[in-house]
Amino acid sequence: MFPTNCWYAAAFDHEVTQKPFPLVILNEPLVFFRRENGSVAALRDRCAHRMVPLSLGRVSGDNIQCRYHGFTYDSGGKCVWAPGQAAPPNSNIRAYPVIERRHLIWVWIGDEALADSSQIVDEVFAGLGEPGWNFKGERLFVEAGYQLLIDNLMDMLHLGYLHRGTIGSEAIRQGKFETRLERPSGAIQVSRWIPNHLPSPTSARGQKTSEENSAPVLDPEDAWHVATFGPPCNVRIDAGAQIEAAFHLIRERLGAPEVLL
Ligand code: FES
Ligand SMILES: [Fe+2]
Repeated sequence: MFPTNCWYAAAFDHEVTQKPFPLVILNEPLVFFRRENGSVAALRDRCAHRMVPLSLGRVSGDNIQCRYHGFTYDSGGKCVWAPGQAAPPNSNIRAYPVIERRHLIWVWIGDEALADSSQIVDEVFAGLGEPGWNFKGERLFVEAGYQLLIDNLMDMLHLGYLHRGTIGSEAIRQGKFETRLERPSGAIQVSRWIPNHLPSPTSARGQKTSEENSAPVLDPEDAWHVATFGPPCNVRIDAGAQIEAAFHLIRERLGAPEVLL
């Protein structure tokens, strides 16, 4: 069972074109496509006639035509054409509310009357699509419950062990950090600040690279790891490390109220 009355980030903006793009979201078969003006439509991916996936058909203007017998639907799901007869009035299919924001296509599967764009927890996507930020959207399919992924991404304690050879430092292994829990703008944010510790293997490699002409010196560093969860299933991770006391800079950027030292 899934929460349905919320926005789901279904696709990256570059994935949805005038070619039908099928996706199953919350067990609902959906087809996405762009109208002539560039806006995105989402319909149930089943023809009302014989239940053929509309994503097998073609988009023409703002309409999508079934590949089997040609029933044609507008982007609101209304059947506007059928061969040899007037469009049957009871042959409409469901259309879903869609928002395009921050390089993502959002869809609302639940009660359409409750769809409210302000419910997207923007805090998780701060920076995305803004000047000075790069964007690259890729998919990684995981055969597991999505809640397990949220659990993993909000969990820092495993870094010291599962990621021992890369981003796991001894300070994390020993639990030598403080944790802050906050709730900015509908999100849940867990911040960990790890001051003045010997770097993780990844950081150490970075330090060596920057000093390739001299003997490597591993300077103590400050590190941070900020995980932000926005319901129903979005997580942002802002993590890094810096030699010298950098917390005040990071705090300004993330808006964290205090430095934990
Ligand atoms: S199944 Fe779509 S037109 Fe017949
Ligand atoms: Fe991990």
